[in-house]
Amino acid sequence: MKKNAVEQIYIGIARLNRINMKKSNYYDYIAQIYDQTRWLTESIAEEVADFILKLTCATPKTSFLEPGVGTGLNVIPLVKRGYSVTGIDASQEMLDQFRQKLNVAPFNLKLIHGDFFDNR
Ligand SMILES: C[S@@+](CC[C@H](N)C(=O)[O-])C[C@H]1O[C@@H](n2cnc3c(N)ncnc32)[C@H](O)[C@@H]1O
Repeated sequence: MKKNAVEQIYIGIARLNRINMKKSNYYDYIAQIYDQTRWLTESIAEEVADFILKLTCATPKTSFLEPGVGTGLNVIPLVKRGYSVTGIDASQEMLDQFRQKLNVAPFNLKLIHGDFFDNR
């Protein structure tokens, strides 16, 4: 059955909204309060870092990659200990929150804004 013009416009708007929902990032909206919703205190984060370093038998030359790095809760202790860290995140707001925690841009940290499924 052929759809009338109004129906077609509604379908078009719905499709556009779905595309926009995919493009926008939920974490952009909650970035400012994200850390408050986590259980990860500074001392636990340090313990997690100890665990990661032991698990990976890290040497001073070891580098780490965290897809979905967010506000950096997991990797800040690694950066502070001098390890090379690359973080990828689709949310610019989450990365901005991460950067705000650091007084200077550490030489051993690289933050990439992007989708880790996008291999272009
Ligand atoms: C639950 S948060 C975790 C943040 C951080 N890893 C932590 O443990 O606190 C998930 C993060 O992954 C990011 N993310 C989700 N899908 C992604 C994708 N396809 N590419 C890049 N980042 C993504 C989100 O923007 C968000 O910052």
